[in-house]
Amino acid sequence: MRGHGPTVVGAGVGRRNVQDLLEVGMSSYKGPPGVGPRVLQGDQSALRPGGDPGAGGAAVVLLLDLYCGAGGAAKGYKDAGFTVVGVDNVPQSRYRGDAFIQADALEFLAEHGHEYDAIHASPPCQAYSSMSRNRGDHPSLYAPTRDGLHFAGKPFVIENVIGAPYHSGFVLCGSMFGLKVRRHRNLETSWLEFLTLRCAHDKQGRPITVTGDSGGKPSSHSWKGIRSEWPLYMGMPWATPKECSQAIPPAYTRYVGERLMEQLL
Ligand SMILES: C[S@@+](CC[C@H](N)C(=O)[O-])C[C@H]1O[C@@H](n2cnc3c(N)ncnc32)[C@H](O)[C@@H]1O
Repeated sequence: MRGHGPTVVGAGVGRRNVQDLLEVGMSSYKGPPGVGPRVLQGDQSALRPGGDPGAGGAAVVLLLDLYCGAGGAAKGYKDAGFTVVGVDNVPQSRYRGDAFIQADALEFLAEHGHEYDAIHASPPCQAYSSMSRNRGDHPSLYAPTRDGLHFAGKPFVIENVIGAPYHSGFVLCGSMFGLKVRRHRNLETSWLEFLTLRCAHDKQGRPITVTGDSGGKPSSHSWKGIRSEWPLYMGMPWATPKECSQAIPPAYTRYVGERLMEQLL
């Protein structure tokens, strides 16, 4: 094993080293020139020699966070107990996971997906979202991502908007977690999950729509609220309003992450 980072004991997958995963990701990358992958930032205490967690052989469960953005999903998985490595094809200076790699998600998944205990993917939703102006101009990455996840053979979660070409799943809503946003999102999981939560729209009042410039016209049913407050509505105080408009609330991935952890342990 290369490197001197903490030994990582994944759930049922033997002993590994997080630093190795990142070094392998960097050395074997064959994507477009100038696109990475690079470890850019993040709280990497878990990755340094003698770091914690992982020191002393404590179990660390590694989650690969594809299309990670600023890390709304990552924060929820961290709250659920995962060590999270994010991949995005543009730099994410505020990424909230443990480490960040700049790379193409599908290429990274094909080469390294099997090295992780579990994988989350949030492929871009513009091709499917009713809020998008020019859906046809955006790549449709949902199906290739699902194919890549099956190939990697690890438990997975794919999150996307209603209208994406998912095979199955359950829908989460901000009202299930006491949030001001509704933000219905489908979660397709590699295991069968029975959702016990229910929407509580009547308890929300007029919900806040957190979205890009093109959508979310104010109506009697919803409004955009105060843009600078979107990070608070989403539970993402470290992120910008624009990053929030691309994200899912950490409450969603904490919920699904706790169930994913039960699949692994
Ligand atoms: C919906 S956002 C993800 C938001 C994130 N899950 C969160 O909760 O904060 C989609 C992300 O995919 C990234 N992206 C688009 N195409 C990509 C590709 N081919 N490889 C890697 N990342 C890509 C975008 O830069 C964007 O940050």
